[in-house]
Amino acid sequence: TVPQLIDAFARKFYYLRLSITDVCNFRCTYCLPDGYKPGALGNKSFLSLDEIRRISRAFASLGTEKVRLTGGEPTLRRDFTDIIAAVRENPEIRTLAVTTNGYRLARDVAAWRDAGLTAINVSVDSLDARQFYAITGEDKFTQVMAGIDAAFEAGFEKIKVNTVLMRGVNDTSLNSFLNWIKHRPIQMRFIELMQTGEGGGLFQRHHVSGEVIREQLLRQGWQLQARARSDGPAQVFSHPDYLGEVGLIMPYEKDFCASCNRLRVSAIGNLHLCLFGESGIPLRDLLADDGQLDDLQMRIQGGLRGKRETHFLHQGDSGITQNLSFIGG
Ligand code: GTP
Ligand code: 5AD
Ligand code: SF4
Repeated sequence: TVPQLIDAFARKFYYLRLSITDVCNFRCTYCLPDGYKPGALGNKSFLSLDEIRRISRAFASLGTEKVRLTGGEPTLRRDFTDIIAAVRENPEIRTLAVTTNGYRLARDVAAWRDAGLTAINVSVDSLDARQFYAITGEDKFTQVMAGIDAAFEAGFEKIKVNTVLMRGVNDTSLNSFLNWIKHRPIQMRFIELMQTGEGGGLFQRHHVSGEVIREQLLRQGWQLQARARSDGPAQVFSHPDYLGEVGLIMPYEKDFCASCNRLRVSAIGNLHLCLFGESGIPLRDLLADDGQLDDLQMRIQGGLRGKRETHFLHQGDSGITQNLSFIGG
């Protein structure tokens, strides 16, 4: 039997979020308002294709069934298609997803699908081109929308769309997002703004409690779906009149972390036990050749013993997380 990754609170980890670069070409107000600055991760280079192959192998051998490629903007890597193929060399990894700003979708999504990508999450913070520009710093609304269409055409059946709702910015657009998914097989996810190290001021000004959104959904006839513990932290709602679904990600809720099912590796190869936690456990010295697999497995399993019950956000602390671009959210 495959060894499993289980922590001290009996949570099982079959899902790895692997950041492959911290570079991003957008400047989202809540993430990188001044744009990407080189060197945030020190001067270390990003994981190579071979290192990514070895990380995937190790996690697959420890029971990982799902990998999500994150960034920064992961699709900016020139070898992105090769990375997809490398992760999918492991038959245990049945789901390979990407979280993207959508910039490269229209051009490349069919090639990614052919290489083995199985799921896509796209960030779209507004359905209004001008507001999209104001939030992301890039005038790419039309291109991102065309990208979502291209992803459906390439054969992706369900796509998740992420929106960070912000008070006084896009929180009044809830109903336009809901109308948009009436006839589209999209899971529209409303993400509660999280306080990062750099984002304190923005958080004070714009944080909207997910509770408020949930009340609005319930009033409009949306129903919370039953969920398996393995589903992860999102609460999913459906509605008889809508083809799409809604997912709520409310990290400030009391029991949010009880269903945590994911581990993270940063673009420089540190294992992070939480999005808002400690500096991470270096894995990179064990990624130089295939002969180190046993040691790598042991370090991952040993490291997991240190996973805490919940993130630091409840104490108003972001841990080491200055913004989400180095660890991929
Ligand atoms: P699935 O793999 O489809 O369940 O998606 P996901 O929601 O985990 O992934 P995605 O990359 O689309 O992330 C959406 C939002 O959820 C981002 O803002 C993430 O930062 C946030 N998020 C995902 N996992 C966690 C988590 O473990 N803790 C916290 N606090 N936020 C998370
Ligand atoms: N709070 C909530 N979500 C965030 N994201 C980035 N920064 C934050 C934050 N401070 C989201 C992006 C993207 C996902 C990867 O993380 O909108 O959808
Ligand atoms: Fe880039 Fe994503 Fe951060 Fe926006 S949220 S700046 S798209 S990494």
